[in-house]
Amino acid sequence: MNLNKDSKKLLSEFDAYTSPHAKMAEALKELKEEVMADENINILLVVGPSGVGKSKLAEIFIEEILDSMEEEMIKDTSFIPITGIELPNPDLGNFNWKDFYYRVLLSLNEPLVDRKTNVNRGVRNNDRYVNEGRKSTVGDLRRSLERAIYHRRTRAIIIDEAQHFFRLKTGKAVAEQFNSIKSLANMSGAKIILFGTYDLISIMNLDGQLSRRVEEIHFPRYDLNNEKDVEDFINILYTFQRKLPVEKPPDLLSERKYIYEKSLGCVGILKTWLQKSLRETIKNGEETITLESLRKTSMNHTKLLTLFKEIVVGEEIFKESKSDAIELKKMLGVENLEDKPNKRKGNNNPGKRKPNRDEV
Ligand SMILES: Nc1ncnc2c1ncn2[C@@H]1O[C@H](COP(=O)(O)OP(=O)(O)OP(=O)(O)O)[C@@H](O)[C@H]1O
Ligand SMILES: [Mg+2]
Repeated sequence: MNLNKDSKKLLSEFDAYTSPHAKMAEALKELKEEVMADENINILLVVGPSGVGKSKLAEIFIEEILDSMEEEMIKDTSFIPITGIELPNPDLGNFNWKDFYYRVLLSLNEPLVDRKTNVNRGVRNNDRYVNEGRKSTVGDLRRSLERAIYHRRTRAIIIDEAQHFFRLKTGKAVAEQFNSIKSLANMSGAKIILFGTYDLISIMNLDGQLSRRVEEIHFPRYDLNNEKDVEDFINILYTFQRKLPVEKPPDLLSERKYIYEKSLGCVGILKTWLQKSLRETIKNGEETITLESLRKTSMNHTKLLTLFKEIVVGEEIFKESKSDAIELKKMLGVENLEDKPNKRKGNNNPGKRKPNRDEV
C-alpha cells in the first residue's frame, strides 16, 4: 500500500521531531562551556557510540549558536559565527585536503569558491579572490579559508565524522594530519570541534603531544548500571510514546527491556527504529505500534553486538583516562599542595605553655 499525503506528513513530522534528553543536554552544556572558554585549547573532541545522536547534537548546537547571535548577524550580514561540515569517508590513506577546504569554504557561503587563489596574488576589487581563472591549489584554498574565517568572524567549525581525518597508514601521518587541523585553528582563530566515534580518542592517545592539545567531551549511551540513566531512559520512552502519531498511544514502557536491548541505550538508534516501525504501522493501517512491528523493524543482534563491543572499548578508554588522572595525581604527590593549617605560625596562644612539655 502506498502512503497517502496525510500519512507522509505524519511520518515527516515525526522524522523531524527532536526529543530533548539528559545525556544530550549534558553534552550540549559542556560543549557550550568549552567553546566559550578562553583557554589555549582550540580543538575539541565530541565522542560517543555510533547512533547515540552526535550529528543531532551538532545540528542543535549550530542552531542554538545561530539563534543566540541572530541580532548581530542581521546587523552585519557577513558575520557567520559557526559552521559545520561532514567529512566523507576517504580512501584509506588518501585524505583530500583540497576537498576539505573547499567544503568548509562552501559552508561559509563564500562566492567564487572554485576559482579561489592566493589573495595576495589575486585581482583586487569585487572579485578580489579570483586569479584569472587559474585552478586553485591546496595552498590557495587554505589561505582563502583562513581569510574567510577571519572576515566572517567565525568562532567555531564543526567537523562531523571526524574519524575520517585519521584513516591513514602510519602514526606519523596521523600526527601530521592533526598538526594541519591545529594550525588551521591557530591561524584562523576559530575553535575546531571534531565529532566522531571513540576511535578519535584512541588516535589522540597514541601521542601525548596530541592529547595535550585537545579537550574531550563524552556523549555516552544510557547505562542500566546507573540508576539515573534508568530513570532518564524511561522518560525518553515516555516522550516518544506520546509523540508517535498513531491512533492509540503505543505501550513502549511495558516493552522497555526489549527496547533497551535493541537500542543499546542510544537515542539515535531508538529514533531510527521507531521511524521504521511507524512507517510499517501506518502502511498496514494499524492503530498503534505493536511489539510485532518493533520486532520486525529492529536491528539484528549481530550488528548490535558489533556496536556494543565498540562501546565497551570506547567507554573503557574514558574510564582509563579518569583512573590515569587519579594515578598521576597520586604519583606527583599533588595532595601535598593542599591547604593545610600553617604549622610555622605555631602556638596560637602566646604565653600559654603546651601541656605536654614537662616531663613528670
Ligand atoms: N534526541 C533525539 N531526538 C530525536 N531524534 C534523534 C535524537 N538524537 C538522534 N536522533 C535521530 O536519530 C538518528 C541517528 O542519530 P545521529 O545520526 O545523530 O547519530 P550519530 O551518533 O551521529 O551516529 P553515527 O555515529 O552513525 O554518525 C538521526 O536520524 C537523528 O536525527
Ligand atoms: Mg553522525
